[in-house]
Amino acid sequence: MIGVFDSGLGGLSILKHFLSDLPEYDYIYLGDNARVPYGNKSSELIYHYSCQAVDFLFSQGAKLIIFACNSASSQALRKIQTEYLPVKYPGKNVLGVIVPLVEKVVSDPKISKVGVIGTRATINSHIYREELLELKPDLEVLEKATPLLVPLIEENWLKRPETRKILKYYLRELKMKEVQALILACTHYPFLLKEIRQIMGKSCKVYNPGEVVAFSLKDYLSRHSELDIKLVKKPQRKFFATDKASNFKQLGEKFLGEKIEDINYINLNDKL
Ligand code: DGL
Repeated sequence: MIGVFDSGLGGLSILKHFLSDLPEYDYIYLGDNARVPYGNKSSELIYHYSCQAVDFLFSQGAKLIIFACNSASSQALRKIQTEYLPVKYPGKNVLGVIVPLVEKVVSDPKISKVGVIGTRATINSHIYREELLELKPDLEVLEKATPLLVPLIEENWLKRPETRKILKYYLRELKMKEVQALILACTHYPFLLKEIRQIMGKSCKVYNPGEVVAFSLKDYLSRHSELDIKLVKKPQRKFFATDKASNFKQLGEKFLGEKIEDINYINLNDKL
């Protein structure tokens, strides 16, 4: 079983691509919607919450966990991989969304200037910049925090002129500086993919993160048969949330693009 973790329901936009590109596996999704958003929280708190999520997903039988959340990937993943897992879960792995997106950008030799948009936590961590420059030191990286986008998307203000105005304002500098690629470093932003592509124009590649991460997961699984993650005929999908907020199912189905039959509720604090 593959665990997918997000601060809320945004990670369903990543799971959606796992289900379409890798449908033959079992998945367990955990959305910490009681404590969302992570994007404005301190790295200490995001690390603490992320460790709780890791404990829960491994306790449920996940063999591998993917952090769909950029805020958790940027603030907690490295420390979890280097300090938490070796002590508590030796031999197990947790992957994030940053490396696949970074690898996608650097694999294109024509790209020399790239933009990154995300929550404050993700942008202030400068992790995309660091990872990009490690692989391609002469790359120019422009980062921009775009904190208003998550609430606008959750309010379903996708087509509103106000949202377009805010998007244009956020993207102005990146467009003026003629970035050739733009990384959407937040689970929610794919919902504005069409609008963002329109504003940035044809000369800028705007990747769909779910597609990129699913491609990378496929590759990872093909190289790690020792994980023994079974291909199954009747794959299971289990959904867990930390709060009964009514929008989880409604908005979650929109993010996932299919019906969510059953949502289980847990209290992560009780699990420690
Ligand atoms: N899932 C978060 C991310 O990708 C966005 C929502 C939040 O701030 O928790 O950064």
